[in-house]
Amino acid sequence: MNEMTNSHILVHEFEYMEPASLEEAIRLLNEYGDRAQVLAGGTYLLTQMKMERLAPEYVINIGKLPGLDGIVSQDSSLHIGARTTIRTLRNSSQVQADYTALAEACAAFGSTQIQMMGTIGGNLCNGSPASDTVPALVAFDAQLVLVGPAGERLVPVAEFLVGPGKTALQSGELLVTVQLPPLPSPPRGGAGGEVSPPSLHREGGGGEVSLPSPPRGGAGGEVGSAFIKIARVAADLAKASVAAVLVREGDRIVHCRLAFGSVGPTVLRTPKAEAVLIGQPFSSALALEAGQVAVEEVSPIDDVRSTAWYRREVVKALTHDVLYKAWERAGQDAGCRMQDAGCRMQDLTPHVSRFTHHVSRFTFHVSRFAEHEITLTVNGVKHRLQVAPNELLLNVLRERLELTGAKYGCGLGECGACTVHLNGAPVLACLVLAISADGGEVLTVEGLQRPDGTLDPLQEAFIEHAAFQCGYCTPGMLMMSKSLLNEIPSPTEDEIRDYLRGNRCRCTGFVSIARAVMSCAQER
Ligand SMILES: Cc1cc2nc3c(=O)[nH]c(=O)nc-3n(C[C@H](O)[C@H](O)[C@H](O)COP(=O)(O)OP(=O)(O)OC[C@H]3O[C@@H](n4cnc5c(N)ncnc54)[C@H](O)[C@@H]3O)c2cc1C
Ligand code: FES
Ligand code: FES
Repeated sequence: MNEMTNSHILVHEFEYMEPASLEEAIRLLNEYGDRAQVLAGGTYLLTQMKMERLAPEYVINIGKLPGLDGIVSQDSSLHIGARTTIRTLRNSSQVQADYTALAEACAAFGSTQIQMMGTIGGNLCNGSPASDTVPALVAFDAQLVLVGPAGERLVPVAEFLVGPGKTALQSGELLVTVQLPPLPSPPRGGAGGEVSPPSLHREGGGGEVSLPSPPRGGAGGEVGSAFIKIARVAADLAKASVAAVLVREGDRIVHCRLAFGSVGPTVLRTPKAEAVLIGQPFSSALALEAGQVAVEEVSPIDDVRSTAWYRREVVKALTHDVLYKAWERAGQDAGCRMQDAGCRMQDLTPHVSRFTHHVSRFTFHVSRFAEHEITLTVNGVKHRLQVAPNELLLNVLRERLELTGAKYGCGLGECGACTVHLNGAPVLACLVLAISADGGEVLTVEGLQRPDGTLDPLQEAFIEHAAFQCGYCTPGMLMMSKSLLNEIPSPTEDEIRDYLRGNRCRCTGFVSIARAVMSCAQER
């Protein structure tokens, strides 16, 4: 297949399906095999299709399937639906307190829009060694529930990752749940010796899972975990990343798992480095020694993001720093860990998908040459539109509805210029199939002004503080700032910068943009 640069349209044609049930999704996946791709958040799939690296004949949207969203505590373990977004995990107080490394990985993930659109299932199933949630999932020994034509099976996350872009998913299988087992506990009878991590044992041939009695080290504060990522810029994939989970007893580490991302063909553990740590009193020198050993266990390559040499060098420092963080957290109470890993965002758990208001009752299927009628309510006005499966929301807004506020910048989710709100949450319109937004409510920058023509206070603040130069990024900035103020009415400057980190202003107006958002917040 030729690889080409993307354009403002999605050239590739495909058939589009929205199964109404899990059974139907499995049947379709089984029938079409390698010719089909699942669409969850679309942040990976759509970029790959735009770059012509993937050309599925069938796109099976699981975005409206019931039962795949949300975080549920069950028998001291945590069950996460495959379509749960990265943002939901980041903001979950339970994930922050108990599985801190995972919340931290989600906070380090891409941009706010990518966190809101991207799902944990998509992050695992794209098979990338740079996927940010995976080191934490490996360190916590997560198990994946896969459902296929032969039924359900449970696979440890470490066995799911087979190679770059390759997973253990078999033809017709869907990832439905990620299970985080109970936190590891200190061994009975004091420190020393290796502790077996809690393991899930299967009963009845791999169907039901029975969990060991709850060894919640977390409650007493003995378990600590952390994640660190090094990237070229904040909203980029990792050059190298690491997650650590350890159990602290007195001055010793009695259990430890380390998992590294972007330094091998898959996310990998470093058992020799772990062995250096277990049973030993914690010290900075010990953490450095573990880092030296870990370097021998990773196998990085040179690529566009970094060199093998740099990655090896940074693994030493990352190992030291992540152990230090995890060690300190093991002595903290849950509140401190939440503060450390999270921010003042709303905990949206249990998550309500931006699509759940519109669950299909029937599977529908649109052939590549056919058009399908969708309904979109844009800035309060209802439109009926005929769209082909490969039409993007951005093109429909700009070219059909002549709402040219949302801009085409990169077309690959990297600049934020195309940001609009879909069902109340910001999305990158360049990475949303218009057909998948059927029934949705869209707000564009044109819809911010009031019916009498007066501007939104945020728009006024942007004018007052000269928060634009060429103005190309401004509509995306406004839509994200609007969403930020809905989530955090009085943000700090750091929170503004973090929230807007996926919106690039090419003419460096960022200081005035942050100032405008702060002043609008203060005047409300
Ligand atoms: C600008 C940008 C920045 C990014 N930054 C980061 C980053 O910092 N860290 C990071 O880890 N990733 C990053 N990504 C990659 C991507 O956003 C994540 O991997 C995201 O989690 C993918 O989830 P999704 O729901 O969008 O997946 P989709 O694109 O919908 O799907 C991804 C793949 O998984 C398959 N799939 C999805 N769900 C399932 C399922 N339940 N069962 C079986 N197969 C399934 C799809 O068929 C597809 O092949 C970035 C992407 C972009 C465009
Ligand atoms: S055009 Fe959509 S993110 Fe750049
Ligand atoms: S004002 Fe020019 S790109 Fe932001």
